[in-house]
Amino acid sequence: MNATAPIDLARILELTHNYGNQGFAMFLEMFDLSRHFVRAKGCQIFDAKDTKYLDFLSAFGVLNLGHNPKAVKKALLLAIQSDLPLHMQANLCESEALLSKLLCDIAPGKMHRVFLCNSGAEGVEAAIKMARLATKKSVILSIVGGFHGKTLGALSATPNERYQAPFRPLVPGFEAVAFGDLNALEKRLKKGDVAGLIIEPVMGEGGVILHPEGYLKEAERVCRENGALFILDEIQTGFGRTGRFFAAEHFGLSPDIIVLSKSLSGGYVPIGALLYTEKVSEMAHKDLPDWFLHTNTFGGNTLACVGALVAITEMERQKIWEKAERQGAYLLEKLQAIAESYPAIITEVRGIGLMIGMELVRREEMPLEESGSLLFAKELMARNIVSAYTINRPWVIRVAPPLIVRRSQCDFFFNALEDTLKHFQKQGAPWKS
Ligand SMILES: Cc1ncc(COP(=O)(O)O)c(C=O)c1O
Repeated sequence: MNATAPIDLARILELTHNYGNQGFAMFLEMFDLSRHFVRAKGCQIFDAKDTKYLDFLSAFGVLNLGHNPKAVKKALLLAIQSDLPLHMQANLCESEALLSKLLCDIAPGKMHRVFLCNSGAEGVEAAIKMARLATKKSVILSIVGGFHGKTLGALSATPNERYQAPFRPLVPGFEAVAFGDLNALEKRLKKGDVAGLIIEPVMGEGGVILHPEGYLKEAERVCRENGALFILDEIQTGFGRTGRFFAAEHFGLSPDIIVLSKSLSGGYVPIGALLYTEKVSEMAHKDLPDWFLHTNTFGGNTLACVGALVAITEMERQKIWEKAERQGAYLLEKLQAIAESYPAIITEVRGIGLMIGMELVRREEMPLEESGSLLFAKELMARNIVSAYTINRPWVIRVAPPLIVRRSQCDFFFNALEDTLKHFQKQGAPWKS
């Protein structure tokens, strides 16, 4: 069998139906979203007929540098050709050491140590364990509407009934506090048993929701006053997405723990990272064996670390956050203006940098399949735009292209969007009736 021999869309669907995530294949077919993409560069993706699509999703925030960033590709090819030990695990790795230092240098606050892993949720698991280990307390708080992943610990911090219910009992000791309610948070913290609050600076899967002004800084303060760690989940907001290298910079935050992933290696190699302060390290690592309480196999893998070292250097060289701020402001202003002409379809456009959400009108308690965003994504796909909804608020369409998106590509998106809106205006948005 030739594992890399090309196959066509029908065969891919057949194999996925029979051996993979059948539900996903059905869902793509139901909404005419299945395509066979064979090539991608920057913001562009091409199907087998060489039809061009624009990526306004970035694999949910993985592709801040775009598809196949040249510098990362080159460095990875060199690493593969070099005969470097790809994986040591029981010894030290050069690129892991360098990456740990670089991450601490660029991260907000006073990050001092790094634990490398393979995904966002794995980083969240490590953060939960680190908070419990350091504080010797058990309770982990998260925010209603927040999203931190789907492994059992991360899911326990993701208060979404749809995703939690089938897996109960979840990990004990998790509680959700109301969005934006500082008093509720402080009241809960005062009980004295909270190890940490895990929070996204901007809630991505919650529907691109910004916390009320001043909330994050105050939340950090009350956590600290009550002996709980302030854990910032920058998995989606990090690496320039919001118009700063890290979203913490918008709000003057200095967290105890930061979790990163998604764009960290420029999309090439799965990687996640847990960063923490010297104080947390001192609290957690009292004795030598404490350093071995949480480990993994693939964290620190040479290719992942080389990818991350070069991706970060490339993001710095391009000042990628400035691009996100500039293009984000352009997109947001235009999208808000467009939305004003279609109040019966879009109720709000909001966001920060290139993390933008368009909220569609909806019926209360509408099932996902009818919430409009899938029909909307279908119409956008028919107009050569790749997009998707946000997981916890599925009637919000995300607008999140790679941060290298060009003005002309934004203009192409506006045309596709206006055309889609006209389509729904003419035929009546089916999810509204
Ligand atoms: C804010 C946030 N945290 C955690 C995760 C989980 O990351 P992963 O899907 O890599 O497990 C995500 C994924 O979308 C996320 O957006």
